[in-house]
Amino acid sequence: MFSLSLGLVLLPFVSAAIHDVQVGGAGGKLVYVPEAISAQPGDQVVFHFNPKNHTVTQSSFADPCGRKDGGFSSGFQPVAANQTDNLPTYTITINDTQPVWVYCAQAAKTPASHCGQGMVFAVNCGLDGAPNSFTNFKNSALAIGASLAAAASSASAASTAAYSAAATWTTAAYGGYTIPPAPVPTPITQAVTLGSQVWTTTYNSYPNSPAPTPASAEGQIHKVIVGGPGGKLTFDPPRISAQPRDIVVFEFHQKNHTVTQSSFDDPCRKLNNNGVVGFDSGFFAVADNATEFPTWNFTVTDTAPVWGYCRQQTPASHCGAGMVFAINSDESSGRNFSAFQNVAKALNGTLVAANEPAPSQTSTTTTNSNGAASARMGTALVTCIAAAFAALLL
Ligand SMILES: *[C@@H]1O[C@H](CO)[C@@H](O)[C@H](O)[C@H]1NC(C)=O
Ligand SMILES: *[C@@H]1O[C@H](CO)[C@@H](O)[C@H](O)[C@H]1NC(C)=O
Ligand SMILES: *[C@@H]1O[C@H](CO)[C@@H](O)[C@H](O)[C@H]1NC(C)=O
Ligand SMILES: *[C@@H]1O[C@H](CO)[C@@H](O)[C@H](O)[C@H]1NC(C)=O
Ligand SMILES: *[C@@H]1O[C@H](CO)[C@@H](O)[C@H](O)[C@H]1NC(C)=O
Ligand SMILES: *[C@@H]1O[C@H](CO)[C@@H](O)[C@H](O)[C@H]1NC(C)=O
Ligand SMILES: *[C@@H]1O[C@H](CO)[C@@H](O)[C@H](O)[C@H]1NC(C)=O
Ligand SMILES: *[C@@H]1O[C@H](CO)[C@@H](O)[C@H](O)[C@H]1NC(C)=O
Repeated sequence: MFSLSLGLVLLPFVSAAIHDVQVGGAGGKLVYVPEAISAQPGDQVVFHFNPKNHTVTQSSFADPCGRKDGGFSSGFQPVAANQTDNLPTYTITINDTQPVWVYCAQAAKTPASHCGQGMVFAVNCGLDGAPNSFTNFKNSALAIGASLAAAASSASAASTAAYSAAATWTTAAYGGYTIPPAPVPTPITQAVTLGSQVWTTTYNSYPNSPAPTPASAEGQIHKVIVGGPGGKLTFDPPRISAQPRDIVVFEFHQKNHTVTQSSFDDPCRKLNNNGVVGFDSGFFAVADNATEFPTWNFTVTDTAPVWGYCRQQTPASHCGAGMVFAINSDESSGRNFSAFQNVAKALNGTLVAANEPAPSQTSTTTTNSNGAASARMGTALVTCIAAAFAALLL
């Protein structure tokens, strides 16, 4: 009380306080000690990094485990288990009386997330009972962790089930090209937490598909350049991983391209299967001297793989030249991006009939294709076991 009134009287001469916070606790505990402090503008908070590999990263109350736009971060501070002195530090200065929310970004968005295990910290948060109390903030972080853990366990179960249920090679829509088995989706119903919002989602989980938890309420933006100078027949990047709510911005550069949804076994024709009709941007013709580039947006709604291509056929098929694109392809399976591109080239391009049986062996075609199929099935199963093993290591 005394020092407070003295402080008020002598305000310009009061030196700012320094608050020490330990990052990580004894025995590798995932905590900041203390977890919450109050501080005055001008005060400094000095974080001392204990063994393990933590960060001090600014988040927001609404999204406790996501970095705040323009927020501060110490970066990762690895400290050996036997190090006891000369611990690295990171200092922030408190600018105002607004709450400051902090988390550790180690293993972000995975079941091992430090934040998801409650490693969060706050300056000037609300009192217990207030909506923006530390307890509510930490509980929201823990709920994100629980949701990531649930997604990982259901996805790995789905992954194992999917490949064992579907180890049959089929042929492409036309042309006799054989293609790897389709994974079987597992319908999953799950509570998703994003900041203070919780809702239930039902989605199809595919092997290695991303978590259904959107990275942020607005979704992330992924930019893909379509075409370009010199007649480039590419989507750049040709494949991305994206979560529900993310937006893929296709930016059309030189020449006259589309982005059109297809399917793995029919890469160069618009998807139209049992009433499911694919998206299509239509043609965007862009002049060689253009300096502004039109965009067309696709919002991701699912974690299932999305396959796409350019349907320009003048003067020659762009798709057949390999101008294809994928979202959430399972790169550890036979249905990876380059396999998809090969199907496109085989069906509509120069790689035509690359794995078709030789015409002279018509009478033994059945045997040949069966032999080929079972050989490839072996590879698919090995991949599946490796994937399951990798899942166990997590
Ligand atoms: C610290 O963690 C980051 C992120 O996981 C990782 O990239 C880095 O290699 C780690 N450093 C050490 C020394 O383990
Ligand atoms: C910590 O352990 C490493 C490797 O075990 C050793 O090289 C280093 O000297 C130790 N450091 C201290 C401070 O004991
Ligand atoms: C205080 O303001 C500085 C300069 O704008 C900024 O770098 C720093 O991150 C701010 N501190 C906090 C705790 O937001
Ligand atoms: C773009 O290509 C489509 C299909 O080939 C064609 O119909 C259209 O006229 C082309 N647009 C321009 C401006 O060249
Ligand atoms: C591009 O070239 C065309 C014809 O050569 C011309 O009409 C147009 O103004 C040019 N556009 C730009 C942005 O330079
Ligand atoms: C696509 O999304 C981006 C980013 O949100 C936006 O800037 C752009 O205007 C959108 N394009 C269209 C055609 O809606
Ligand atoms: C690919 O080939 C099929 C069958 O000939 C044809 O229907 C389709 O339009 C072609 N697509 C492209 C983009 O070349
Ligand atoms: C990608 O698919 C091809 C063709 O199915 C296959 O040969 C290759 O092994 C796959 N890559 C991986 C990493 O599984």
